[in-house]
Amino acid sequence: MNAINADIPFYLPVGGECELFEHAHKNNLPLMLKGPTGCGKTRFVAHMAARLGLDLHTVSCHDDLTAADLTGRYLLKGGETLWVDGPLTHAVRTGGVCYLDEVVEARKDVTVVLHPLTDDRRILPLERTGETLEAPDDFMLIVSYNPGYQNILKSLKPSTRQRFVGLSFNYPAPDIEVRIVAQESGLDAEHCAPLVNMATRIRAMKDQDLEEGASTRLLVYCATLIRSGMSTLDAARAALIEPLSDDDDVKAGLEEVVLATFG
Ligand SMILES: Nc1ncnc2c1ncn2[C@@H]1O[C@H](COP(=O)(O)OP(=O)(O)OP(=O)(O)O)[C@@H](O)[C@H]1O
Ligand SMILES: [Mg+2]
Repeated sequence: MNAINADIPFYLPVGGECELFEHAHKNNLPLMLKGPTGCGKTRFVAHMAARLGLDLHTVSCHDDLTAADLTGRYLLKGGETLWVDGPLTHAVRTGGVCYLDEVVEARKDVTVVLHPLTDDRRILPLERTGETLEAPDDFMLIVSYNPGYQNILKSLKPSTRQRFVGLSFNYPAPDIEVRIVAQESGLDAEHCAPLVNMATRIRAMKDQDLEEGASTRLLVYCATLIRSGMSTLDAARAALIEPLSDDDDVKAGLEEVVLATFG
């Protein structure tokens, strides 16, 4: 383990997630985080890694990401071929947390390298170099995804899912969310409370009109614009209405909610 990082990113727990993380890490169990966009998954991982003094290796997965992008490849350098570790291999060699964000986006062959690493073997076989790396005790694999965005083609297979312990995130309870938004934006809690209230109403519109509710991230943006001197209405339009929809009718519905709260 590395020295405890004095600069631990702010994270306000919403339940028993910090305990679960510590138990999972202590017992060499990989962790799967699910939840809507902007609800604190990435911040949680950054906070816990810093709190436990673990290096954090983050990979944002995309639909072109292959197993070789994670494990590494031979590259030609000045006439020589050199093996270069990918981020997963680097994390297995050096320890710490490897965090695969939006893992469902990655290509299917990625699961092949994750399976032996996420069961009791905890090994990473590197076919190309002939090595089999054993994950050190402080190595932890974390994946996250947003179940709302998934389509059937992009869901994880049961044999992959069942190698992880799981944790569902959602928007924090209002009193906690007010504290988060206030802390992150610097706007006082008294002015953050109505924003959280408005978000609760907007979130109730999900499924009827909206793909996703207003995230904690957007509330932080909105509060930041207000603290910077923008009017509440303009800030809400920029940070809560525009990012949520392109549809004029839906935007008009959102505007009504904003006006009902602040008009
Ligand atoms: N519990 C929390 N404590 C502190 N800040 C939080 C918390 N939850 C959300 N936030 C704030 O919300 C912002 C968005 O959170 P984060 O980036 O972790 O979302 P995410 O769940 O990883 O979203 P995505 O799925 O889009 O990557 C953070 O930058 C932080 O300001
Ligand atoms: Mg994230």
